[in-house]
Amino acid sequence: MQDFEGKTAVITGSASGMGLAFAESFARVGMNIVMADIEEDALKTAAAGVEALGVSVVPVVTDVGDAAAMDHLGEATRDAFGPAHLVCLNAGVSAPTIPMEQLSANDWKWTLDVNLFGVAHGIRVFLPELKARNEGSVVVTASVAGLTSHPFLAPYNASKHAAVAIAETLHAELVNEGSNVTAHCLCPGMVATNIGTSERNRPKELQDEVANASDPQAMGDLAAHAEEFVKIAQTPDAVAERVLAAVVEGRFWIETDAYYRETIQARHRSIENRTAPPVAKSVMDPYFTK
Ligand SMILES: NC(=O)c1ccc[n+]([C@@H]2O[C@H](COP(=O)([O-])OP(=O)(O)OC[C@H]3O[C@@H](n4cnc5c(N)ncnc54)[C@H](O)[C@@H]3O)[C@@H](O)[C@H]2O)c1
Repeated sequence: MQDFEGKTAVITGSASGMGLAFAESFARVGMNIVMADIEEDALKTAAAGVEALGVSVVPVVTDVGDAAAMDHLGEATRDAFGPAHLVCLNAGVSAPTIPMEQLSANDWKWTLDVNLFGVAHGIRVFLPELKARNEGSVVVTASVAGLTSHPFLAPYNASKHAAVAIAETLHAELVNEGSNVTAHCLCPGMVATNIGTSERNRPKELQDEVANASDPQAMGDLAAHAEEFVKIAQTPDAVAERVLAAVVEGRFWIETDAYYRETIQARHRSIENRTAPPVAKSVMDPYFTK
């Protein structure tokens, strides 16, 4: 995609973090913005902020894991602006970081509903109109967790490997058809957002009577490294700039920093050589053990 002025972007998970930065960045290039999020008050505030940049904004309270709610998001977008041009399937949550045998069925279901089905529903709802117009882009927010398998993140890793697989499959289908629609896979490392308080948005029916809590050591004792973390984590605005550039250039992979390159390469070598996968103590190792 080269021209953005007057076109329409739909962004899930846009009341906070990277999704909000995408909305602001796309507003600055003159797009109409549809902001979808499950957190109603935060969405209202975020939408007012984006509207203040001088574009039309439609906030739609949406649970991306709910097929009917995503159908409604598609209808609300078409009613407001016609078919979408740029679709960012970005909403995501992180279950407690604990050894996998301690995870509840709800921890798994919640993570997969949002991070996997949110992407699948988004493609089901928006891809037909992008293909019909033979123009536009789909950006799937995966993660470095979709390219590695660090301990204590089993549902998150599984959901993000699935997100990468969906984005790659979409790319293959579009290229084989000779479509002008482009697929993009965003694989951020650490970004300073509100993902650490994802539990704020867990639906009541998926809450456990006794909730699991993250083990601070599982994230390399993030609290003890809080000051360092703030310095090394990317800003959502910087990620948004990279996304916009990748969409303009038609580039599939979007990385936010190089911290995990070695780990990803080691995993690929282990697959090629049929040796055991590399093992790290925590997902924070590339940041805090050097
Ligand atoms: N922050 C990081 O370090 C990091 C790294 C890699 C990937 N990611 C991914 O980036 C994406 C954005 O997360 P973020 O880091 O900006 O976190 P964030 O918590 O700041 O934003 C996520 C947004 O998703 C919304 N959301 C949660 N459940 C939802 C649902 N069921 N339906 C609709 N919206 C829902 C939240 O309300 C929130 O506004 C996620 O997919 C996340 O997995 C984040």
